This record gives sequence, structure tokens and C-alpha cells, in this order.
Amino acid sequence: MAKGGRNYRLFSIRRTSSFYLILTTLLMLTLPLLALLALGIFSIPISRTESSDAIDLNAFLKSSVKRGEGSGERGEQWTEVLSWEPRAFIYHNFLSKDECEYLIELAKPHMHKSTVVDSQTGQSKDSRVRTSSGMFLRRGQDKIIRNIEKRIADFTFIPVEHGEGLQILHYEVGQRYEPHYDYFLDQFNTKNGGQRIATVLMYLSDVEEGGETVFPSANANYSSVPWWNELSECAKKGLSVKPKMGDALLFWSMRPDASLDPSSLHGGCPVIKGNKWSSTKWMHVDEYKF
Ligand SMILES: *[C@@H]1O[C@H](CO)[C@@H](O)[C@H](O)[C@H]1NC(C)=O
Repeated sequence: MAKGGRNYRLFSIRRTSSFYLILTTLLMLTLPLLALLALGIFSIPISRTESSDAIDLNAFLKSSVKRGEGSGERGEQWTEVLSWEPRAFIYHNFLSKDECEYLIELAKPHMHKSTVVDSQTGQSKDSRVRTSSGMFLRRGQDKIIRNIEKRIADFTFIPVEHGEGLQILHYEVGQRYEPHYDYFLDQFNTKNGGQRIATVLMYLSDVEEGGETVFPSANANYSSVPWWNELSECAKKGLSVKPKMGDALLFWSMRPDASLDPSSLHGGCPVIKGNKWSSTKWMHVDEYKF
């Protein structure tokens, strides 16, 4: 038994020393590797955007870049705070040019005159305040749309299932959308999904002149936006965003305490030159069912 014990000890010492040998070798091999890796990581360039025309309103939030996802090349992406009253943010190059063109082509054959929701019946009705034409896509309709909807969910932190189908809108010269709220003041329209909490408005085209999104009740210095001098008269009556192909505007109709935010009043200024294509995603407090 004693003999057996010694044998075992000898064996275990030999095993231990070879174990240390392997460990040391591994360590010696991994240390320079780790050092290289660390250097490699630190030397990866971090993409940062410096704004030459940075102003009070436009503090950069992040420059989270996620490439290789979706259809087509997207330009540099970054988000910008437009205002805190209402809570509004611009996400630059949210959609690629290919995605914008895809949405327009998909919608073109199905466009009809836009209506507004009747607060009494919940039915659509013709409206003089909204003179554009539009159509609704189905949520999750195809791969490209699912991809965009996933991106919207990531950006807003609101699940895909809380969104209505994308609406595609077309405004020609003179067409506009008078200032309105996206939230409902009736019982009928909140049955499905509850109140509308936030809106993502995506610009599918550039507009030569006019067609800005204006927040006439925003609590901000309207003239401090860098694009002030390019705005139409209508747009100068509030805090405005100039449509740019691929950009997305996120604004909240509800405050963080879930009360309705009247500063989210917004409208589409008349197009003066060119024409405007946009896409709207309304997000609800709860799941929105078809
Ligand atoms: C608003 O912004 C403009 C441009 O940055 C500035 O000249 C003006 O003094 C500001 N007005 C107020 C009331 O802060």
C-alpha cells in the first residue's frame, strides 16, 4: 500500500512538472499574442463625426455604425438631438438610397389621396388639412421591410409588434400636412395597441425647396438650426427639419411619464420645388394587431 502510494506520488510529481512546462510554454506563447491583440484593438480606428456647424441644439449622441446589414450602402450614420420639448432626434442615413427607392417603387402603383382618421367613427375620411397621397404597407411584408422595421425597433427601443405598417406618402408642389398631433384624443382609435407613443418619419427623397417637417410648439430657439437660411417661410414658424433622403426623424408623442406631449405638434410644410416622398412608422404603447 505504501509502495503504491509512493508510485502514485512520483507519477503525480512528474505529471505536475509536465503540466507546469506546458502551462509556461502556453503562457509564453499567449503573452506576445495578447499584447499584439491589445495593440490591434487599440489601433482600430473609431469612427467619429465632428460637426463643423455644431450648435446648442445639436449635441451628438453617438456614432453607432452597423454596416453590412440591410440593402444597399448607407452613408455615415449618426444621431443628433433636435429638441427635448418635444423629444425629437435625427438619425442620419437611417435608410440606404436603395431602400428609399425600393419603398417608393413598391408604393407608386397603389397611391391614393390621403385621408385622416375620423375621431368619431375611427374611419378614414377626406381632409383638407392633408393634401398628399399615400398608401400603407403590411408590417413584415418582405425581407427589406422587415429589416427596416427591425432597425426602427432598435432605434426606438419599441418592439416591432407595437408598430403600424409603414405608410408611404407623396407630396407634390403645394401639397402639405397642417400641424397636428399623432396621438389620439378619442376612445376608438386607442383600442388597438393603445395610444401612439412615438413616430419615426423617414425621408425617401430630397426636396429642392419646402416640404420641411415643422414643430410649431417646440420649446427651442428655432433660428439656431444650421439649416435656418435654407428654410421656407412656413418652416421658420417652428423648429424645422429639412427632408434629406435616407434621414429619419424620431419624435415622441408621449413624455417619459406617459402623459401626452402637446409640444409634439407637427406639420409638413408645402412643397415649393421638386417633390417629397416620405415614410411614417407609428409606434404604439402596446402591441398593434392587424
Ligand atoms: C437664437 O439663435 C441664434 C442663432 O444661433 C442667435 O443669434 C440668437 O441670439 C438666439 N436667440 C435666443 C433668444 O437665444
